[in-house]
Amino acid sequence: MPDQPSASPMPELFTWEFATDPYPAYAWLREHSPVHRTVLPSGVEAWLVTRYADARQALADQRLSKNPAHHAGSAHAKGRTGIPGERKAELMTHLLNIDPPDHTRLRRLVSKAFTPRTVAEFAPRVRELTDGLIDRFATQGSADLIHDFAFPLPIYAICDLLGVPREDQDDFRDWAGMMIRHGGGPRGGVARSVKKMRAYLAELIHRKREAPGDDLISGLIRASDHGEHLTENEAAAMAFILLFAGFETTVNLIGNGMYALLRHPEQRERLQRALARGDEQLLATGVEELLRYDGPVELATWRYATEPLTLGGRDIAAGDPVLVVLAAADRDPERFADPDTLDLARRDNQHLGYGHGIHYCLGAPLARLEGQTAIATLLRRLPDVRLAGDPDDLRWRGGLIMRGLRTLPVEFAAE
Ligand code: HEM
Repeated sequence: MPDQPSASPMPELFTWEFATDPYPAYAWLREHSPVHRTVLPSGVEAWLVTRYADARQALADQRLSKNPAHHAGSAHAKGRTGIPGERKAELMTHLLNIDPPDHTRLRRLVSKAFTPRTVAEFAPRVRELTDGLIDRFATQGSADLIHDFAFPLPIYAICDLLGVPREDQDDFRDWAGMMIRHGGGPRGGVARSVKKMRAYLAELIHRKREAPGDDLISGLIRASDHGEHLTENEAAAMAFILLFAGFETTVNLIGNGMYALLRHPEQRERLQRALARGDEQLLATGVEELLRYDGPVELATWRYATEPLTLGGRDIAAGDPVLVVLAAADRDPERFADPDTLDLARRDNQHLGYGHGIHYCLGAPLARLEGQTAIATLLRRLPDVRLAGDPDDLRWRGGLIMRGLRTLPVEFAAE
């Protein structure tokens, strides 16, 4: 379907207004140009896929490769990973940049070490971390939920899970902070942080090989499938993608999720009443709904057509980048009733917030654990928590893939 002229003009993409609220623009695209060719702020041309059915199909289409070498504009074939400055390093040969059969082999190996049981056993530690962070500001009556809470929680959680010693975790927090603040542009600080993280991980893997522990990195080294193991580089790339994929996403789940609850008092009170009764069902469906309503990942990571194909009636040439807009698909009225309404008890909520197909989020059980624990604990301990200041003053972080707030200032009665 060609881009049609229409009564309402096409909203501008990638502006400040768009970053604040992209949903009207996505509604326009879904209706008028559901598979839309656009020029990204970087100058690269790409297709945006905004309808749920097309998005789901594209995520499962093996003709869309994750390997940046398939990008036709080979000048752009490097560094499409979201980590600027880290072009050729082994760390980039991770799950989100590779196709089967390598992807199948690596995913099978990591799945042996990172199991739902690993995550379930980790629940008490997540609760302890959550309470510990809230302890630091609960007596103050105000906090920035991003800086004081959503940001440190996932990084400490993943560090603990991987087996990064406590005394080194603040270094990790600083490196990760550099990446999230500057993600999206090649800046020296980011490249340096990635380099330091890579050197640290290589050294840590070496130490764990000598003296294995009860942690995920030791598990990754130990994991074997038909006699095959991860190489040291593969283990480092795996640790890196677990950190990277599990960090900013979870920050945004907590940040966007709490923001949505604070803007919808009737939903938030409903959840508080359920929690007070000891009913956790609404918490589980509610966190899924928060992922659908304003999820952490706005666009799935880059895909490239390996051959000419048709999607939503548009012809896509070999080598073209295809970006699946999860945030648009998850508000598609063809799939979700009243898609712009936040309904924590929503049924049949098969949102695409964790992706779909072979790259479906490996960390979804951990993300659910962290998201549910964080939101339930905040609402229990700060029952009257409210936004401080004017919501119009809130700023969203730029960047294409992720959607998240820079700050979330709140007030509450001090404990
Ligand atoms: C993949 C979302 C948390 C590890 C993905 C994908 C999405 C996603 C959409 C697929 C990307 C694509 O197909 O282009 C999320 C969200 C999270 C979250 C919304 C939090 C709320 C985590 C956590 C971890 C993690 C906590 C691990 C500690 C991964 C990995 C992949 C992935 C390793 C790549 C899987 C593969 O390519 O086979 N995630 N994620 N994620 N996620 Fe998550």
